[in-house]
Amino acid sequence: MKTALGQLADQVLFQNYGKRDIALVRGEGAYVYDDEGRRYLDFTAGIAVCNLGHAHPGVTEVIERQARTLVHVSNLFLIEGQVELAEKLTRLADRGTGPYRAMFVNTGTEANEGALKLARRYQYVSGHPEKTRVVALPNSFHGRTMGSLSVTSNPKYREGVTPLVPGFEVADTYEGAIDMLDDKTAACIVEVVQGEAGVRPVDKGLLQSLAARAKELGALLIVDEVQTGVGRTGRFFGFEHFDLSPDIITMAKGLGNGIPTGAILAKQHVADAFTPGMHGSTFGGNPFAMAVANYVVDVVRDPAFLDRVRRVGEALRRVLEANFDGVTGLGLMWGFDVDDASTWRKRAAERGLLVTACGPKRIRVVPPLIIDEQHVEEFETIVKKIGRA
Ligand SMILES: Cc1ncc(COP(=O)(O)O)c(C=O)c1O
Repeated sequence: MKTALGQLADQVLFQNYGKRDIALVRGEGAYVYDDEGRRYLDFTAGIAVCNLGHAHPGVTEVIERQARTLVHVSNLFLIEGQVELAEKLTRLADRGTGPYRAMFVNTGTEANEGALKLARRYQYVSGHPEKTRVVALPNSFHGRTMGSLSVTSNPKYREGVTPLVPGFEVADTYEGAIDMLDDKTAACIVEVVQGEAGVRPVDKGLLQSLAARAKELGALLIVDEVQTGVGRTGRFFGFEHFDLSPDIITMAKGLGNGIPTGAILAKQHVADAFTPGMHGSTFGGNPFAMAVANYVVDVVRDPAFLDRVRRVGEALRRVLEANFDGVTGLGLMWGFDVDDASTWRKRAAERGLLVTACGPKRIRVVPPLIIDEQHVEEFETIVKKIGRA
């Protein structure tokens, strides 16, 4: 039986998310509760967003304090929290080939749009207006606005909304991406672990060859850390596992633990291509979002926190490998094969476990980074009851 809320949702909301039959009303740590009081172990974390879990006391305190102090002023004014956060993030990104600068936005897509625009602009101000092409990897996901969609591979998302941005191309094969780079290329954009494509780490050697070829040609390397950033892979940035030195890094998801926040980091000489007026965002980097993001980053950048993510992530990997085929991922983002993802997801929810599907036969688990071995045991107990069907 459909609830009154579900029926009203069918009438008044866009139907772009399909049917949703669980209404979540409360959360605590790694658990969420629905409107009938049922408890779920949340291995979605708001799709890799609530890295510190739900209703985290520290996050809640910062939200309360900042809401009472100052929420928004616009980028006409200097915002202390932006400077603090930029200092932290640029230091974390700089692995000896920096320095970087930061600018703040609200979502992953917005960060990627900014990055793509910055790449073209950088080439233009560097005397290379002919370098306008952008090359993306197969199975990529960078967002659904016109620019980010143009570097997103799934043809389903493109149907009926073409023409997309000219010069933005998705390679057919991973090796092919390297050959596609040429002297007209402004940038290549990659995810180091392709989340939407099934949580698949990209081959390290391939990424390094791509980066080297891009450098040779004067093309920029954009690493989309929207899903992999902020500790998700067990390192602050996913690219640290792959020994890359991105020219531009995009972030969002985990940065605000649910308060919409994103960032574009770029090496200083690249960032300087955005001269005053060339780019902006009304809400981006407001004091409210910055207060929360500063708190989140302080917690996650602690080496002991990241060690724990790697340790619990290993425990989760062992459980998955004992129960499923096709287990891939890093840290606390994993994908695995099931017979039918939609059925599996429903069965899991019936048994008090939330996961996301990322393919017709593929499940993704991206739990809050604060889970411990006991949560992994609870997860195992449930998945053993479901099996692979
Ligand atoms: C790698 C990657 N890039 C970009 C995006 C888009 O981010 P947002 O939904 O915050 O715009 C996502 C979202 O899933 C993502 O996983």
